[in-house]
Amino acid sequence: MKAEEGITILKIGGSVITDKSSDDGSAKLDEIERIAAEISRFSGRLIIVHGAGSFGHPQAKRYALTEKFDAKGAIITHDSVKNLNRFVVNSLNKAGLNSVPVHPIGNTVCENGRIVRMFIEGIRIMLKNGFVPVLHGDVVMDTVLGISILSGDQIVPFLAMQLGAERIGIGSAKDGVLDNEGKTIETITSSNFRDIEKYIGASENTDVTGGMFGKVDELLKLCEISSITSYIFNASKNGNVLKFLNGENIGTAINNTGK
Ligand code: IPE
Repeated sequence: MKAEEGITILKIGGSVITDKSSDDGSAKLDEIERIAAEISRFSGRLIIVHGAGSFGHPQAKRYALTEKFDAKGAIITHDSVKNLNRFVVNSLNKAGLNSVPVHPIGNTVCENGRIVRMFIEGIRIMLKNGFVPVLHGDVVMDTVLGISILSGDQIVPFLAMQLGAERIGIGSAKDGVLDNEGKTIETITSSNFRDIEKYIGASENTDVTGGMFGKVDELLKLCEISSITSYIFNASKNGNVLKFLNGENIGTAINNTGK
């Protein structure tokens, strides 16, 4: 672990590590282990954020959590994602890392679904001492709504700004953002977004947080306030996570320079 190195933030989408067509928490344990093995070969400072997939979206939908406050539904949904988080953390630790679960429900406050505050002091100390914090999409407290559903896609740019991250990757189950012919769009900037917006689909399965469109939208917002380039790439393909971690630019780059 080189302390002087920049911070990398990697999100692993719920569609990569769960069967998203299931309506109640079906984990792809082989995929979690494969990805953990790839991550274990990286020695830089790293934060992992994972999605909820079938451990969060169907539950949030069942209790209509994006429409109304439901304390029981919130707890059931959080508990379910926490189970997925345990699989991820255990696999990372078995692969040789020292990873620590960080549940947003206890350290993050939103206002109308947008993060207004996150207690990140612990994360800073973890990074300094070689731990890998593992956050996830979650149910969080909301000053207006009582609770809201927070996507990992929003956590990633927030942490990137707070901690000054150097590299951001969003591992999805597709080869980045695809155009109408199924080809990977190389670069998305706020100037070409209007033209390609129509191709960017929502998720085929239950997704309460916006699918691919939501990811691009969050990362473009980050470009407006920083010069960080983010990559959306296919984490379901063997070796791609390690390629990203090792500095390869794969999938779709999202930035404000167009390169
Ligand atoms: C969703 O998180 C959180 C809940 C539904 C509780 P994400 O938006 O990060 O999950 P994925 O990657 O789409 O599955």
